[in-house]
Amino acid sequence: MISKCLFPVAGYGTRFLPATKSMPKEMLPIVNKPLVQYGVEESLEAGLHEIGFVTGRGKRAIADHFDVSYELEHQIAGSSKEQYLTSIREVIAKGSFSFTRQSEMRGLGDAILNGRRLIGNQPFGVVLSDDLCVADEDGEGVLTQMVKLFKQFRCSIVAVQEVPEDQISKFGVIAGNPIKDNIYQVNEMVEKPAPEDAPSNLAIIGRYILTPDIFEIIENTPPGKNDEVQLTDALMTQAKNGCVLAYKFKGRRFDCGSVAGFVEATNFVYENVYSQE
Ligand code: UTP
Repeated sequence: MISKCLFPVAGYGTRFLPATKSMPKEMLPIVNKPLVQYGVEESLEAGLHEIGFVTGRGKRAIADHFDVSYELEHQIAGSSKEQYLTSIREVIAKGSFSFTRQSEMRGLGDAILNGRRLIGNQPFGVVLSDDLCVADEDGEGVLTQMVKLFKQFRCSIVAVQEVPEDQISKFGVIAGNPIKDNIYQVNEMVEKPAPEDAPSNLAIIGRYILTPDIFEIIENTPPGKNDEVQLTDALMTQAKNGCVLAYKFKGRRFDCGSVAGFVEATNFVYENVYSQE
């Protein structure tokens, strides 16, 4: 049974300053919808309806977004403007939303450990909402593909994509044995390697399915690169002790944590999604 998904959203979003000075980067809109809503919709599509956010200071707008705004609802009820609330109303009706805080930015591994109480002893999804993933036409969302795979293999799964050599040092990178089309059993993982040290061109993107033993592993993982507790290091331990799969997903991913990726995603969604609605 997998029904929960964790959204670590405690980051400062420094690359988007000054826009992110008093507003969470996850609330920046791609056309007319905040980034984080795309991630939550992907999670709901995958059947992960219990959404847990690991937030930080200055992130209250995220909690407000996934709640009813009575004044606004009352003001536009019955008018032609009500249609603009359809997508968020559907999300609020389908999901349940819980929040916890990461008091200090100690890395993604630490953010996930902070979500332990929300998750308990169950497998769960993780979405980094600054990676916007778009399904192929008539295809399934990336998390939906990963949940199906999890039901088959019952172990942690990381989504990967091939990236050019000059980009590789921005990512966690895996090496593994192919066990099926687009599926690898991970035997090496390095966080942000120099191009000459990268074990492959397969980079981890912001979608994971994790088994709950990861929490204890993270607790015993010392800070790594940039003095942060790296999820990649914990996953490497999990891969050594048991099994971690890497899945080359179908679809497109935009790095909306960078300005260039954000603009690319905006153009793509405007032309291929918004204009078609
Ligand atoms: P980033 O590396 O993109 O960091 O984090 P950031 O702070 O959000 O953005 P920049 O680099 O300052 O512009 C990747 C994801 O992990 C979360 C972030 O919120 C983001 O979704 N994260 C990272 C945490 O929640 N806590 C952490 O300690 C680190």
